[in-house]
Amino acid sequence: MEGKFFSWISCSVILSLAVMIGIATPGAEAQRAFFVFGDSLVDNGNNNYLATTARADSPPYGIDYPTHRPTGRFSNGRNIPDLISESLGAEPTLPYLAPELTGENLLVGANFASAGIGILNDTGIQFINIIRITQQLQFFQQYQQRVAALIGEGQAQRLVNGALVLITLGGNDFVNNYYLVPFSARSRQYSLPDYVVYLISEYRKILIRLYELGARRVLVTGTGPLGCVPAELAMRSRNGECAEDLQRAAGLFNPQLVQMINGLNSEIGSNVFVAANAQQMSLGFINNPQAYGFVTSKVACCGQGPYNGLGLCTVASNLCPNRDIYAFWDPFHPSERANRFIVRQILTGDTRYMNPMNLSTILALDART
Ligand SMILES: *[C@@H]1O[C@H](CO)[C@@H](O)[C@H](O)[C@H]1NC(C)=O
Ligand SMILES: *[C@@H]1O[C@H](CO)[C@@H](O)[C@H](O)[C@H]1NC(C)=O
Repeated sequence: MEGKFFSWISCSVILSLAVMIGIATPGAEAQRAFFVFGDSLVDNGNNNYLATTARADSPPYGIDYPTHRPTGRFSNGRNIPDLISESLGAEPTLPYLAPELTGENLLVGANFASAGIGILNDTGIQFINIIRITQQLQFFQQYQQRVAALIGEGQAQRLVNGALVLITLGGNDFVNNYYLVPFSARSRQYSLPDYVVYLISEYRKILIRLYELGARRVLVTGTGPLGCVPAELAMRSRNGECAEDLQRAAGLFNPQLVQMINGLNSEIGSNVFVAANAQQMSLGFINNPQAYGFVTSKVACCGQGPYNGLGLCTVASNLCPNRDIYAFWDPFHPSERANRFIVRQILTGDTRYMNPMNLSTILALDART
């Protein structure tokens, strides 16, 4: 009797467990992994683990993050990948170098980005120890071996093929290379139009490598409005207008990126790569900050000197009391609220912003397959 009773109980426990798993499974399947590559716009804290000067691991960075502590993100709060994770219904990606990135956490994805890097190996050399893009891709390969050891090779492959990928490169190849110093070696080597052609051809190789490593949905951002950031207003602008040379660079780079991506997709025969025009996405709040609830798009919240655009954002800098009314958090990086406007366009923007389609279309398409 007693035995039977217990076996009935364990039976129903197993049954209800099965029901719970049955209910949980569609949710678990909908959860896709997310991988992030690139520079400080998307670094979630890898540089905290490196001997480099390109870091955001001390206050007031992170002041509006849920923990109100610095995390290594170059933002007062969340950055672009965090907000994409949020729209996927996922946890933020952990930095690849974070010790917590083990076991189940690996299945969420990983963030390989490192502040200061660019398309070219010699971009950001002044930051010394940063994870250049080739190394980020090698880490991605290593990550896949670790996941395969956890869930098997076939499942690992499926996780990577089904993932969303974000890659953000290019800004530093201008700011921390071509225009780093007047008459830089690069600017003597290449005219600006030739340099852009060279960058695009190198970016193409990086994207092909990502494809070879299993990426099948890749958001590729071009450069933002390089000449309009407070740092450039402080260093290069006349009367607070966006610096002409950097605007010209972004204006050459972004359309050629779209062309290159269209070419790659037609060679592959599938829309693997999607271009996100960050310059266009920022134009609205830069030209008309009040319409977006910002008091300014010229002055950084945290910094010093003209436009708070000089030097680093540190505990000794000027700090605005309300970060939500500033488009720029520090001399180079948007505030969380500006990042939200950017991610909104990534999700729902038309072809002026997203080519050949936006993220909500991607998510709807991929949910059907
Ligand atoms: C950058 O370095 C990697 C690895 O050291 C190398 O494979 C690649 O060709 C280099 N890229 C350029 C543009 O020199
Ligand atoms: C972008 O997303 C919206 C839905 O939010 C959709 O109506 C629109 O057609 C999409 N545009 C493109 C180019 O994919």
